[in-house]
Amino acid sequence: WAIYAPYVRAINQLKAERNAVVLAHNYMTPEIFHGISDVVGDSLQLAIEATKVDADVIVQCGVHFMAETSKILSPEKTVLMPDMAAGCSLAESITAEGVAEIRAKYPGAPVVSYVNTTAEVKAASDICCTSANAVQIVDAMPGDTVIMTPDQFLAQNVAAQSKKKVVWWEGSCIVHELYTAEDLRAYREADPDVKIIAHPECTPAVVAEADFTGSTSGIIKWVHDNKPAKAMLVTECSMASNISDELPEVEFAKPCNMCPYMKKITLEKVLYALHTMTGQVEVDAAVAKDARRAVQRMIDLSQ
Ligand code: 13P
Ligand code: SF4
Repeated sequence: WAIYAPYVRAINQLKAERNAVVLAHNYMTPEIFHGISDVVGDSLQLAIEATKVDADVIVQCGVHFMAETSKILSPEKTVLMPDMAAGCSLAESITAEGVAEIRAKYPGAPVVSYVNTTAEVKAASDICCTSANAVQIVDAMPGDTVIMTPDQFLAQNVAAQSKKKVVWWEGSCIVHELYTAEDLRAYREADPDVKIIAHPECTPAVVAEADFTGSTSGIIKWVHDNKPAKAMLVTECSMASNISDELPEVEFAKPCNMCPYMKKITLEKVLYALHTMTGQVEVDAAVAKDARRAVQRMIDLSQ
């Protein structure tokens, strides 16, 4: 921690000077998560918080689509992205033209797009969802068939729980698609007491092996509530690092996978962005208006 202390001090001082808040996703490194964040959470919690924060500046410690969502919901605020190259394989897998293409295949079916998408894709969709509310949102849609974009595995996991017929785009998360059911079975055989906790961006075969599946905050809550002696978090590596100090009684089993996009966000880059006020996220006004409708509709249905 000593090595981070000067950055943490400088950032917290600049936050006060600029009237800024740091919204940090659960995948941020511990020095960001514990050192400089004002709000931490999953995608849904961060989107809701973006509508509530009383500050002039939001520093988004997460990936680009999260900063865009904050800007869409709070257009009057300055939203800073410490590294514009912090993308997401899901957001990159589909464009607004892709939404039109899949819509044409299933005429009349509503399009539910994961928040892990660009503002243009959100604007072309009927509503958004996150991993925390996907089943609830899909079930609330009219008609028998619902189109989900862009995560094929989230869609398949939702299909298993929903009363709707779900069809999907073929995107995937490069972090979660790496986990296999065979690997998890091998871990459980080697250690029958391990609790396996997965994110719904994993394949249905992986989810079938899990003791619990949920959003990143859902996973944290489950571990806090259940305090298993040994837990394997089938998601991004920082999740275990961020909660292990609060839960000394839980042993976190490795391995885990890192998100190369999330890991682009560092204390140095946050300090630079706040110092220079660079990395300001802008969304075209017409796109933002339509995207806000899709995100707000999701928030309204989730509360
Ligand atoms: P959550 O909404 O569950 O935090 O997931 C976001 C994400 O990018 C997971 O890979
Ligand atoms: Fe995107 Fe996967 Fe990284 Fe989440 S973990 S930001 S879904 S690439």
